Amino acid sequence: MEASVGEAGKTKFQIDLRRYLREDGEDEGLIHLICEIAEASKYIVNSIRTGDLGVAGTSNLYGEQQLALDVLSDRILRKRLAKSGVVSNIVSEETNDIIFVAPHRTGNYSVAYDPLDGSSLVDVNLAVGTIVSIYKGSDLMLPGKKQVAALYILYGPRTTLVYTTGKGVHEFGMNQLMEYTLLRRNIRMESKASIYAPGGLRSLYTPGTDKFVRQLEADGVKLRYSGGLVPDINQILMKGKGIFFYPHLRNASEGKLRLLFELNPMAFLIEQAGGAASNGRQRILDMVPQKFDDRSPFFCGCHEDVERAEAFIREEE
Ligand code: AHG
Ligand code: MN
Ligand code: MN
Repeated sequence: MEASVGEAGKTKFQIDLRRYLREDGEDEGLIHLICEIAEASKYIVNSIRTGDLGVAGTSNLYGEQQLALDVLSDRILRKRLAKSGVVSNIVSEETNDIIFVAPHRTGNYSVAYDPLDGSSLVDVNLAVGTIVSIYKGSDLMLPGKKQVAALYILYGPRTTLVYTTGKGVHEFGMNQLMEYTLLRRNIRMESKASIYAPGGLRSLYTPGTDKFVRQLEADGVKLRYSGGLVPDINQILMKGKGIFFYPHLRNASEGKLRLLFELNPMAFLIEQAGGAASNGRQRILDMVPQKFDDRSPFFCGCHEDVERAEAFIREEE
């Protein structure tokens, strides 16, 4: 086991992702799956740093133009998952239907993922990420509370992987050998925000959300918004004092973000760190998906602020 220089020159041993999962008593199949996703991220981060920033010439099921990186990241992750030997079904934000890998293999996992969230930010050199939601078995149309694991990889100045299996939230960093080693375990959030990340057009906010933002500003809560869901949520999680929202808009009652690929995994992580995640009226993780490209309004972060947002929204009804 490799020693590394910790704070104040003290040496400390780097715990790698596989060892940490093992010591936490995770199922071998889930350990293998999470480590395969971590392995895929090495190729994704490499393609971001060096790859073609051009357009793929295709569009996804939302009619959004796919960037070469979206397609490449999707292919990298899909191939890894299909070959992992522990996956039944896959659904990706970038493809048009569920991919049946081995639907009848028992004891397996099914995965919903966004291979590269915020991909349009790469050509302005802002941080982007991969978001993954994992269920036991072959059904993916389940409420988020049925997830057995959720994780994201953040491709920023450093590459970090943050996961939960329902036993707290843990952060790993990619070292110079491209191994993920433990940075922080059991990350916890406080009850009140000091930063807020407001998605969507402010001029299209409904009265309740508008009053909520004015209250945050009156309380001196600072605006921190990059336009990338993964870095924006990561900042709130790591600082422990923030709220992110992409609300229902007057011209989009379901907001923009996707329940299966973005909101369920982020909600699981934030709740496991002591925060809350709501669609403005109900807990995200209780929502039963109707179709795999469901969208939902999203308020996520310190629980007092999520509760305040819900109160303002109730008043507008
Ligand atoms: P994706 O790149 O996967 O389509 O997702 C981008 C999302 C998310 O990263 C971010 O919170 C949101 O788009 C920003 O949307 P706006 O540009 O409308 O603010
Ligand atoms: Mn996305
Ligand atoms: Mn995406």
